[in-house]
Amino acid sequence: MADEKAFYLTTPIYYVNDAPHIGHAYTTTAADVATRWRRQRGEDVWFLTGVDEHGTKVQRAADDGGVTPQQWVDRLVADSWLPVLETVDAANDDFIRTTEPRHKERVQRFWEVVRDNGFVYSSMYEGPYCVGCEEFKLPGDLIDGEGEYADQRLCPVHGRPVEQLEEENWFFRLSAFQERLLEHYETHPEAVQPRSAYNEVVSFIRQGLVDISMSRSSVSWGIPLTWDDRQVIYVWFDALLNYATAVGYGAEPGSRDAERFDRVWPPDVNLVGKDILRFHAVYWPAMLMAAGLEPPRKVFAHGWLLVGGEKMSKSKLTGIAPAQIIDTFGSDAFRYYFLRAIQFGQDGSFSWEDMHARYTSELANGLGNLASRGTAMVARYRDGELPPAHDLTAAEQDIVDALAAAAETADRAFCDLDFSTGIVAVKEFVDRVNGYVTEQEPWVLAKDEANAARLDVVLNTICESLRAMAVLYNPLMPKAMSSLWEQLGAQGVLGPLAEQRISDVARWAQLPPGTRVTKGDALFPRIDEAS
Ligand code: MSP
Repeated sequence: MADEKAFYLTTPIYYVNDAPHIGHAYTTTAADVATRWRRQRGEDVWFLTGVDEHGTKVQRAADDGGVTPQQWVDRLVADSWLPVLETVDAANDDFIRTTEPRHKERVQRFWEVVRDNGFVYSSMYEGPYCVGCEEFKLPGDLIDGEGEYADQRLCPVHGRPVEQLEEENWFFRLSAFQERLLEHYETHPEAVQPRSAYNEVVSFIRQGLVDISMSRSSVSWGIPLTWDDRQVIYVWFDALLNYATAVGYGAEPGSRDAERFDRVWPPDVNLVGKDILRFHAVYWPAMLMAAGLEPPRKVFAHGWLLVGGEKMSKSKLTGIAPAQIIDTFGSDAFRYYFLRAIQFGQDGSFSWEDMHARYTSELANGLGNLASRGTAMVARYRDGELPPAHDLTAAEQDIVDALAAAAETADRAFCDLDFSTGIVAVKEFVDRVNGYVTEQEPWVLAKDEANAARLDVVLNTICESLRAMAVLYNPLMPKAMSSLWEQLGAQGVLGPLAEQRISDVARWAQLPPGTRVTKGDALFPRIDEAS
């Protein structure tokens, strides 16, 4: 039976205690490329991102800034979090803020359902809490402090002491879901990726799940419980629900929102950093089971961007703003670099030298040079008219075959979120075509009219290859590829780039002879090392 459900992918919702750095932009970019790839396949797609506005961390940032939490988040969302989507060129379908009424009301309703189902009870909580993680820690999670923190227990992620909390709370009966979660993961081994993350989650569940506090009485910046307004919902148990509230969970039956929920639920991928895996692969599916909803089909945990071997973070003053890179290299190169240079799922470091080197060799000299040589030669030797290709030789057949193989590998890899493999497949095709140009020497063929038919074939082969590259790289580098599409004159004869399908990309000879080809601006202008 055909799957009528939309492909639904989410990013985590980011804390607005501060402005975004490239770690946040990395997740958003990966999500954007994955969803643009699915759109290019012709799938119905829903891509959600947003911000996490409640909790102690945000409240304290606002206190320090001398404004109310609402003023703090309003300003940061408008000045930083919405603009960064444009900076990285994200095409999200929606943006959820947890202070929105649609979210608050539906979160309250959700917890009423879970309580009515018997999974919420009142009890005393006493234990360590890390404000940086907004997480109740288990004693085994903590590490011993040294130096200024000697004799204290520290959060391993933030390297700072935890706080001791004692309060009357409402608890979520997480322990009731231990067996169901194990069974779920045994029957769905693909539901947590990569494999190392799956193993970590299963072994955590096997060690035994204890009930967890789902409300806080000492915090005021949050969503009040409907049955006890002295307590707000614990920020994670408010935030995780954004994936459901934003797409219409709890909406009026028959409304557009309710229809959307039916169309997209459950999420195909909840994309997260590995720091928040446990919330997404243990608490989140358990919450959904408690409310009678289907859990996500896949939680994918990617690695960290590191600085000096540690997770890049604003609290450690190691955050680099996306614009610092994008102002120099552009959004396409940013997207290309991070997904190409770091195996998705592993940690990686950013360096200006590596970024500059790859930009120059792979984008400016590789793809950029091929595009400018190809279009310039059609302009020069054929007055900008794409020539026909009558007799293909083994050299052209080799390109045709290489394209089919590249398209197949790239499709599998991008669908599996294995971005670097997908990018390398297309890049190798680019290298192959560059090699073909060097071997065929069209500039030599152009010197003798007797080679006219042969020159036609070579120029046609280059442009047809560029057509396929524009389609395959469009999800990754939409700005440069739309410019290439224009230079090839493809819009007029094949329609919009967004409407070209991956399944059709390897079909040869799509650009009709006579198509107007123009040499436009360089796709990836050279950048001085010093800049
Ligand atoms: N608000 C929670 C998530 C709630 S989701 C229901 C949160 N926010 S966060 O702003 O601290 O970080 C969210 C995500 O940002 C991480 O999971 C990760 O995807 C991304 N990153 C933040 N720093 C990062 C790096 N240094 N490297 C890679 N990704 C990083 O946790």
